[in-house]
Amino acid sequence: MLKLPGLIDPHVHFRDPGQTHKEDWDSGTASALAGGVTMVLAMPNTKPPIFDQATLDLALEAARRKARCDYAQYLGAGPENAAEAARLAPRAAALKMYLDSTFGQLRLDDMTLWLEHFRQWPGKTPIVTHSESRSMAAALWMAHMFDKPIHIAHISLREEVLLIRAAKEHGVKVTCEVCPHHLFLMQPAPSSAPSFGDHGAGPGGGRTEVRPRLATQADVDALWANLDVIDCFATDHAPHTLAEKDGENPPPGFPGVETLLPLLLTAVHDGRISLDQLIEKTITNPRRIFNLPEQPQTWVEVDEKAEYEIKASELHSRCGWTPFEGWKVTGKVTKVVLRGREAFKEGQILVEPGFGRNVRD
Ligand code: DOR
Ligand code: ZN
Repeated sequence: MLKLPGLIDPHVHFRDPGQTHKEDWDSGTASALAGGVTMVLAMPNTKPPIFDQATLDLALEAARRKARCDYAQYLGAGPENAAEAARLAPRAAALKMYLDSTFGQLRLDDMTLWLEHFRQWPGKTPIVTHSESRSMAAALWMAHMFDKPIHIAHISLREEVLLIRAAKEHGVKVTCEVCPHHLFLMQPAPSSAPSFGDHGAGPGGGRTEVRPRLATQADVDALWANLDVIDCFATDHAPHTLAEKDGENPPPGFPGVETLLPLLLTAVHDGRISLDQLIEKTITNPRRIFNLPEQPQTWVEVDEKAEYEIKASELHSRCGWTPFEGWKVTGKVTKVVLRGREAFKEGQILVEPGFGRNVRD
């Protein structure tokens, strides 16, 4: 039996308020606990988006009633809310800026709008950007200009990880995260059925849609080769129902909060990462980067030798599918203790909605 501190996932989408048929604070945090994640930072691209005091209150009230694990809520950077976001910063996980296209309406195209946020955000927590390739380079430059910490969400490309390495060497206050799906999955082959690496055929069509897109073998290799530059493993848990994924205009996004730890434990088992790296990138670094409190009397028990198959039917997310269906993993979460309470044991969630605490309170 292996005992780990509770994991922190700094990037989840719980769809609450507004699209709770995909996920809500209850099902999302149940899924987190079953995956050994005891703290989540929730993204603001809900309906409505979370960008001012009224919408922040709305999300936090839903979380207060329903969350089973600890949490904080992001604010979204909009065209006119730089001053209000800065004022609300102490209550927020951090500020999220969408600079490239994705799910929801929060994208900021005009770079003068980015400027206002970089100027005004207090900087005790980072500005987290969804920024790919060249927009990432522009965001890095703005962070450097205003001497503010920036955290690049879900990097996926070789050029991104190498640019971040160079920026760190030049003293830019940059940190970054990578998602399991960008480490373990690749872009579908152009002609035939999508390939999900050597783990067998994966789902097709809309089930491969995610932003940033799944990348090439060269990109995936570069992420693994530059793990020392990557500060966090984060899931970008982005649940959409199977009907939506298999329907017309499938929305992008993969669920992931419950499969993070088994996939990483399997990478430890296979000798691809060390247990120290796992702990650093899922606990120590996110805690430091996002200025999060320690969770007393909180741990995760894992049977590192247990082999099992990932099955959506056994996961707790409301979305009903996983891109890792049928994957054989080594390392199973057997028990989670959160602030002294048994929260998960042998497949059962044991804490009620509302047990989770807002770590920014
Ligand atoms: O694939 C994605 N889905 N990428 C994002 O950035 C957003 C997410 C979502 O909210 O569904
Ligand atoms: Zn996201």
